[in-house]
Amino acid sequence: MGLIAEERAERLMKKLSAIDFRVSIEEFSVGVLNALTDFIPEFNKGRVMMKDEDGIYKCIAWKGFSDDIKYFQINKDEDPIDISENPKIYRNIYNIYRKSLSKNLQEVMIKSGLSEVKISVVVGIFFEGKIVGKSFLESTMDIDVSKRELYVLRFVSKIFSLFIGMKFFQERERKYQRDIIMAMVKALEARDTYTVGHSERVALYSVNIAKELGLDMGDIDRIYWGSIVHDIGKLSIPEYVLMKPSKLSSVEYELVKNHPVAGENMIKDFPWLERIRPIVRNHHERWDGKGYPDGLKGEQIPLEVRIVTIADAFDAMTSDRVYRKAYSLEHALSEIIRLSGKQFDPEITKVAVDVLNRVFPIVKERT
Ligand SMILES: [Fe+2]
Ligand SMILES: [Fe+2]
Repeated sequence: MGLIAEERAERLMKKLSAIDFRVSIEEFSVGVLNALTDFIPEFNKGRVMMKDEDGIYKCIAWKGFSDDIKYFQINKDEDPIDISENPKIYRNIYNIYRKSLSKNLQEVMIKSGLSEVKISVVVGIFFEGKIVGKSFLESTMDIDVSKRELYVLRFVSKIFSLFIGMKFFQERERKYQRDIIMAMVKALEARDTYTVGHSERVALYSVNIAKELGLDMGDIDRIYWGSIVHDIGKLSIPEYVLMKPSKLSSVEYELVKNHPVAGENMIKDFPWLERIRPIVRNHHERWDGKGYPDGLKGEQIPLEVRIVTIADAFDAMTSDRVYRKAYSLEHALSEIIRLSGKQFDPEITKVAVDVLNRVFPIVKERT
């Protein structure tokens, strides 16, 4: 097996820990597969099959097979491969499959290279106690697996499933969070017809500016969600104030001005929204310190907030408001430039103007 076990184990751990948890489950699975086949080079193939809502197992990631493997889809009731939390070893899996699968699937197995597999280590992927998928580490070599190697293989397969299971859990959790946030934003937009699509457009503008500035994926994700939620505090403003076409009284204006703080109060009990709190609270701060609620100045305002501020103002300018019509793109951009160094960070403004000019038509079309 070449390198000594400890060295290889260390290399494996390094590779696994380098896999980015924020990528899709498909990309993530490929990363895990690569790390593991590198750990045990004799196992030159692998695949992850996840069960969909209809109980069909589909390959979502593979290594060493042709792309035909994606047509290898098996109904859970027809699948002859028995799985548990402990890895099982199958020899000549093609012969086992062949007995219970259709001619069509047998052809897919030949085309994809699955028919050449001599040995498979299979382990179930579990989520909340239920089987959600299977991971396979496979080889076309007729390896005589020693007891010690078997032990290593079992251990490795277990890591495989745990990692995929963890990722699955994370995606599920994210979906719930997304649904909750979206429900809140929809509730907001239902009251204030003038802001329909505002949050989403601000998110798209902000993300594009952030990318141009070279921010990393974690920051971009935070900016996206912060933009989606930034005006959530407007739920606390009475509808008649939101929709009032004429000048607001000072009391009404105070109610409007309070929406960033109200928004922060609304999300403060959700620990997973902690990271976007500054965007919600401070998106009406100004570079010259004349904004609200904290009167932060210059770089006291977090970078991601300074980005969202420009995107927010730009979308407000280019949308119809209850009290005025939308500005043209040129007019809005000249306003943004005029307010550079006053309302907005001058450095970000330079980048943002180019980005907004480029993405405005695309974003308007999409939302
Ligand atoms: Fe706002
Ligand atoms: Fe806004």
